[in-house]
Amino acid sequence: MAFLNDNYLKLRAGYLFPEIARRVNTFCSDNPEAAKRLIRCGIGDVTEPLPSSVRTAMHAAVDEMGERSTFRGYGPEQGHEFLRHAIAENDYRSHGLEVADDEIFVSDGSKCDCGNILDVLGSRNTIAVMDPVYPVYVDTNVMAGHTGSANDSGAYAGLLYLPCTEANGFVADVPTERADIVYLCFPNNPTGSVATRAQLEAWVQYALKHESILLFDAAYEAYISQPGIPHSIYEIPGARECAIEFRSFSKNGGFTGTRCAFTVVPKSLQARTASGEKHALHPLWNRRMSTKFNGVSYIVQRGAEALYTPQGKAEVAALISHYMGNAQILRTAAIDAGMSVWGGVNAPYIWVKAPAGMNSWQMFDRMLNDANVVITPGSGFGSAGEGYFRISSFNNRANAEEVARRIKSARW
Ligand code: MLT
Repeated sequence: MAFLNDNYLKLRAGYLFPEIARRVNTFCSDNPEAAKRLIRCGIGDVTEPLPSSVRTAMHAAVDEMGERSTFRGYGPEQGHEFLRHAIAENDYRSHGLEVADDEIFVSDGSKCDCGNILDVLGSRNTIAVMDPVYPVYVDTNVMAGHTGSANDSGAYAGLLYLPCTEANGFVADVPTERADIVYLCFPNNPTGSVATRAQLEAWVQYALKHESILLFDAAYEAYISQPGIPHSIYEIPGARECAIEFRSFSKNGGFTGTRCAFTVVPKSLQARTASGEKHALHPLWNRRMSTKFNGVSYIVQRGAEALYTPQGKAEVAALISHYMGNAQILRTAAIDAGMSVWGGVNAPYIWVKAPAGMNSWQMFDRMLNDANVVITPGSGFGSAGEGYFRISSFNNRANAEEVARRIKSARW
């Protein structure tokens, strides 16, 4: 009989969002009347339709694919040049940041890239994650065999957890210990916190000192509203020598179902071989993509390119403004209900302390049963998330207002 990957057996329960979906489905089949008024503020999935600029570009691309003279087969595995150029120009060079077109790798999602990046990293690294943490960073390291087993609170042996608490504003300080790989996510999922320039400078200095690599997940970059907050790790001097950046069109252009994202791997970024020599990671990631990926569909890449047109930029701004309007409504409701609230200012997530005496899953059950609202239990993001819950502001306005009304009218 063939052998399986034993590391998968170390994973605790289901992945958080399928587990929530399972519980919600059970609730709905047991309570068909309540199910009719259910509002989902759990997974951060966009609700508003694709921008018209994107649809127009995709329609045109479909027509191109329908003509012999303009039909395209396989595209470059790294992404079409038109999109790599638009990304590098608009997201980086126009902000004074040095990123070449061929340092951009277009993909089908940041979640995939955050997991896939482990293909080009060794197995002897010490991995640091924030706690609470986007579960993909942890679970993909478990799958790759980079951890031991989980303890009762869900923490895996071998990972360095950096607690994000009210005391540090949900932004972990650099640790005294050395970590080879550090996952940073700003604006943060799940807490909605952002790192200041000084905090990111400290992380870059740490990485340069220890020759670590920062895996910087900036999927929610477009939600930053306060001036002075860095949008990219490459705003910090030295980051090109120590950081990989992940970005996505999911949450700005509404591409969660359409699928398009990108990863920036600077050519100046190096790591060590098992025998100790320094080697660039860019050619390895290029090799990995060429071997395991055939690129994002041409039609989708044309849609993503349209987000960089003047019309596309205006439509993205309108989408962000819509979701952040929801965030403001939900934040205010939770505050009015007497809860302590973070996030929702530079991020579409609101991080809320459960009322006294309730843990995260108890709060999930109360919200589901009493308010018929799905939220995400903070403990699902790590033990430091226990006692908190996350409200996603991805919704239509009527639903956001109704959730606000239910939060305010419930007896906590
Ligand atoms: C979330 O709700 O945390 C996100 O939707 C997860 C994701 O983007 O994969």
